[in-house]
Amino acid sequence: MTDAGQNPDVASFLLRLFGLVGRTAVVTGGSSGLGAAFAKGLAQAGAHVVIADINAELAGEVVDAIEQAGGTAEFWYVDVTDVSAVNAFAELMQTNHGKLDVLVNSAGAAYRCPIEDFPEEAYDRILALNLKATYFMSQAIGRGMLAAGSGSIINIASIGGLIAYPHSSAYLASKGGVVQTTRSFALEWADRGVRVNAIAPGLCDTPILTKALAMSGSTSTTDFIHSRQIVRRLIQPDELVAAVLFLAGDGSAKVTGHVLAVDDGYLAQ
Ligand SMILES: NC(=O)c1ccc[n+]([C@@H]2O[C@H](COP(=O)([O-])OP(=O)(O)OC[C@H]3O[C@@H](n4cnc5c(N)ncnc54)[C@H](O)[C@@H]3O)[C@@H](O)[C@H]2O)c1
Repeated sequence: MTDAGQNPDVASFLLRLFGLVGRTAVVTGGSSGLGAAFAKGLAQAGAHVVIADINAELAGEVVDAIEQAGGTAEFWYVDVTDVSAVNAFAELMQTNHGKLDVLVNSAGAAYRCPIEDFPEEAYDRILALNLKATYFMSQAIGRGMLAAGSGSIINIASIGGLIAYPHSSAYLASKGGVVQTTRSFALEWADRGVRVNAIAPGLCDTPILTKALAMSGSTSTTDFIHSRQIVRRLIQPDELVAAVLFLAGDGSAKVTGHVLAVDDGYLAQ
């Protein structure tokens, strides 16, 4: 019997569906957590990866890991909340790479606080990073994709974009906004070759979660979320990579405006 890994028919079939050789993928928030896993996974599928982030040190580690594994990657310092910086970055990438094929909007942050005490500054910061930056990075990179007639944009939403839990009101509002942003972009660009989808992860083992859970003295969010978790362990970043590869590759050519939950069944309740 032939080993499937050695069978050229299996390999070419999988490459047709998920292969990204010769393509360029931009990953915001690619220095850490889910974004770092997406950057490594996209590179492993053959894409040249561009990390756009504000953490140069961690980005360097991701670029090194990608290169050591035989892939190619580069890092650009981009504060995604600065729309003029985002536009300049998109233009530069267009010039340098000719065509950008995939954009993953993974940069994000969380803030926990009861609604009656929620600070305006934190509200503005969370909405600017999670929602507004997703919109304007997609607009900036999307313009080139529209001109080329193809591209795949993948927004990292959250189960919190589809259901509520306590003390995360701005985060939930931002992620609900990401879900509707995904649908509105998908609708406007569906007949122009640019697909826009979202992934709604459940609770993942990354710094954002550790920081958010340490933020408030109240444990009610943690208790609430944990009480509803069917599978009682955090999702590892690597466990989301296949979802990104599916949405990035040609195998999902007919999928747009979709929100793909990767949540161990959390939303099925
Ligand atoms: N970890 C989870 O449980 C979970 C669950 C659902 C959704 N998400 C979403 O996944 C995405 C990634 O989160 P994560 O868990 O990897 O967190 P993380 O904190 O590990 O990564 C966030 C990344 O965003 C970058 N970033 C922050 N501000 C930025 C800015 N202004 N410009 C550019 N980059 C900036 C950070 O430097 C970091 O690399 C977020 O949108 C988050 O809301 C996470």
